[in-house]
Amino acid sequence: MRKKITVIGAGFVGSTCAHWIAAKELADVVLVDIAEGLPQGKALDLLEAGPIEGFDVSVVGTNDYDATANSDIVILTSGAPRKPGMSREDLVSINAEITASNIIKVVKTSPNATIIVVNNPMDTMAYLAYKVSGLPRNKVIGQGGVLDSARYRTFIALEAGVSVEDVQAMLMGGHGDEMVPMPRFTTISGIPISEFIPQDRINAIVERAKKGGGEIVALLKTGSAYYAPSAATVQMAEAILKDKKRVLPASAYLDGEYGIKDVFFGVPVVLGSNGIEKIIELPLTPEEQAGVDKSTALVRDSIAALPEKYRL
Ligand code: LAC
Repeated sequence: MRKKITVIGAGFVGSTCAHWIAAKELADVVLVDIAEGLPQGKALDLLEAGPIEGFDVSVVGTNDYDATANSDIVILTSGAPRKPGMSREDLVSINAEITASNIIKVVKTSPNATIIVVNNPMDTMAYLAYKVSGLPRNKVIGQGGVLDSARYRTFIALEAGVSVEDVQAMLMGGHGDEMVPMPRFTTISGIPISEFIPQDRINAIVERAKKGGGEIVALLKTGSAYYAPSAATVQMAEAILKDKKRVLPASAYLDGEYGIKDVFFGVPVVLGSNGIEKIIELPLTPEEQAGVDKSTALVRDSIAALPEKYRL
């Protein structure tokens, strides 16, 4: 039986997710958007790349949810992106209603899907999706950590002059400017990064990684990043579809882990066919704990800005 992934939102992130999914032949893709013609046009265009690139999956664009039925994974990208000067939190009120209505519709057609939430503010939208969907917490996952750690790994590779393939890293925290990259858990082929990069440069890289999304927004001026966000999302989808048990940072609903309750927050998890199969609890240094506390407070503020009906 072929796997199916529904991507809600045919903007840059959604359509680039569809592109990576098709190119990897991971699953059939259904691209949904409210704009008439947009998902249909993008889906057909992508399908027509198949004979050239040699991928063979179905790619369908639609304005309703019929074709999404029985999806294995739903990727939620719909909503407004940031413009220069905006924080991800500025998007709460714009994106809450869009997210809620899309989740209600898609859970009706695909009650067994695992949902990956990408739209911003991501941790808050994942929280909302979890509350509105009624799904178990392992089936609603926020995408942020894979993207953030990819940026962090890119900067480390550039600085050390080594292949990015050999840079492994972990980070925690909300998908915001107070995320917590963790140099202690960052290695180049198992060798601590301190063997390659002096501490002041590590600090600068951590700061750049924290503001990595904003760096792209400032350059693009009309929207936010999409290549790396969608690649990150599709890596998570692949881990789930192939039951890979990958250890990745992702936003999970915490119910006491790390002493945190009732928020979505970026933590190391094991991703497999049951979604988040395990939350890995690391003992933190006082400095890491302070970073986590600061980041948690920001996510809590953002969740508190949701309409009350979505916080119950
Ligand atoms: C970013 C946005 C998409 O980090 O959150 O690029």
